[in-house]
Amino acid sequence: MAISGKTAVYGVIADPIGHVRGPTIFNPLFEKLGFDAAMVPFHVSAASLPRAVAGFRAIESLKGWLVTNPHKFAMFHLCDQVDASGTRLQAVNVVRREADGRLIGSNYDGAGFITGLRHDGIEPTGMDVLMLGAGGAARAIAFALAEAGVKRLSIANRTHTSAAALAEITRKFFPDAKVEVADAIAADQDLIVNTTSAGLKPEDPLPLDATQLRSGTIVADIIMNPEMTRLLTLAKERGCRIHLGRHMLDSQLPLLARHLGVPIS
Ligand code: ATR
Repeated sequence: MAISGKTAVYGVIADPIGHVRGPTIFNPLFEKLGFDAAMVPFHVSAASLPRAVAGFRAIESLKGWLVTNPHKFAMFHLCDQVDASGTRLQAVNVVRREADGRLIGSNYDGAGFITGLRHDGIEPTGMDVLMLGAGGAARAIAFALAEAGVKRLSIANRTHTSAAALAEITRKFFPDAKVEVADAIAADQDLIVNTTSAGLKPEDPLPLDATQLRSGTIVADIIMNPEMTRLLTLAKERGCRIHLGRHMLDSQLPLLARHLGVPIS
């Protein structure tokens, strides 16, 4: 679609920027919808974020932006209004700029993961889940799994104190949820989710001993590249159903689009 003076502008902010998928996903969507808009990458350093955002507020044709590393936490504090999911996480992954320049943030990372499971025919409600990792992505996923009503959420992390802190805050927000710290050991869980970055590089250690995986366990990874992490490859070999990392982002697309005011059904 040709860009004209009437085209609405959207951005994605990140540092580094080269790997972001927002423009590749959103521009074809705009085209398909016949929506006169374009998404462009904005390479913004952490130190420059407040100045960049002050400028964004003043650009009337800029309708909003996606937020990715390392800006999700800092951007939360620069918003004028954030919904419950973003507030619980103290982090946003999308911002809409209202006509008056007010910035409305939200975070669909957790919702994207749950919706991705459901689109793949996996219903997490009532499941016994082992989550590997306790970083930023893990936090979003832990809250979303607790909200979805899993039977039990066990959190295992290389750094035990982070797992304990995440379990505690998850219980605080979702008092009815059964959340505990565990070791990274496959037993007879319904679902094991890797949220650690172990698997991004071929030489990374496995986040758990795959030889103990049982075929009745679904194994999910949120790493998108490589699509088949070593954990997923080994899980498949052991007869486990696997759930790929791209589902989390693909399923977020309509949620992010709606937040950004894109006319998607
Ligand atoms: P993100 O925002 O992508 O979740 P993060 O907040 O840096 O990234 O979290 C990375 C997670 O991967 C953490 O749980 C980290 O474990 P630590 O808390 O012990 O650092 C985990 N992680 C990273 N590399 C790992 C490895 N080689 N083995 C196991 N866990 C690893």
